[in-house]
Amino acid sequence: MLRYHTPIMLEEILGFLRPSSGKVYLDGTLGTGGHTEALLAESAPAGRVVGIDTDAESIEIARKRLAPYGERVLLVHGRYEQAREILSRHGLSKVHGVVLDLGISRVQLETPERGFSFSRQGPLDMRMDRGHGAPASRLLEDLNEDQIALLFRTYGEERRARRIAGAIVRRRKEKGGIMTTRDLVDAVFSTLPRQARRSRIHPATRVFMALRIAVNRELESLEAFLADLPDILHGGGRCCILSFHSLEDRIVKQRFRAWEKADVSSETTGADTSGGKPLFRRVRKKVVRPQEEEIRRNPLARSARLRIAERL
Ligand SMILES: C[S@@+](CC[C@H](N)C(=O)[O-])C[C@H]1O[C@@H](n2cnc3c(N)ncnc32)[C@H](O)[C@@H]1O
Repeated sequence: MLRYHTPIMLEEILGFLRPSSGKVYLDGTLGTGGHTEALLAESAPAGRVVGIDTDAESIEIARKRLAPYGERVLLVHGRYEQAREILSRHGLSKVHGVVLDLGISRVQLETPERGFSFSRQGPLDMRMDRGHGAPASRLLEDLNEDQIALLFRTYGEERRARRIAGAIVRRRKEKGGIMTTRDLVDAVFSTLPRQARRSRIHPATRVFMALRIAVNRELESLEAFLADLPDILHGGGRCCILSFHSLEDRIVKQRFRAWEKADVSSETTGADTSGGKPLFRRVRKKVVRPQEEEIRRNPLARSARLRIAERL
């Protein structure tokens, strides 16, 4: 099985964060530690990284991988939206740079028991933290048809949302639930004409992504984290956010833009600590996309969008 996730847009992120010795960085989505390892290597001999992940299994993989860095790395099982509290628990109030790499890692995706993948048979779980919350199968049991359709439409921009929701509710009655990844794929396929079942993008892609976002409350986490970001970054410190979904990217884009304009009256600005002055400047006004070469090497990079802001 795959050992590590391949960190995406690593060169670009290092270029923007410019890690250096003596500084402290936050990796809010540690995963299997790819970005963190590079930050540690680049900030030798005395740079430090606090790595947070909500997935205990990822933390364990990263812990072994990063052991050679000793006390320069601190790994915490928790949620990145609790970063402020986590940092203060460890005697830190601010950091010099932040990286967030949203979504799931390839290791999570390719582990069948996690239930993230439409191409692997397993329980329909999808929780990043298996110790908390309800699995996706439960969510599909608790929601009614309208709510399921709304979820697929909103988070997955799925055009067939209504039909798929109908198929799920029918299967629930006939078979007692959508308990496995296969059950969900079958429900999606049952709504498709035969020739549409072999499209370039797997027909269940959007449904799986939408469900994962809902199970893990991913957009809420991002909003909550951004509300605290001004308070945890030193002046001159940069935040790189890598997203893979247009709704996530929109949240980041709007927040960074509002902070640059000191639009503190806007609901999208979060904590108002600016007194009317801009809180951040956007290091790039436009979204940064991966190089073609990276996408060729790693197709998971295809939908990556990177935004960078600097605390003023
Ligand atoms: C794309 S992976 C990160 C991969 C990592 N950059 C690497 O190079 O290995 C995203 C990680 O974020 C974690 N994650 C997602 N939401 C989280 C949250 N709210 N708090 C903490 N970790 C979260 C997932 O468990 C996953 O391990």
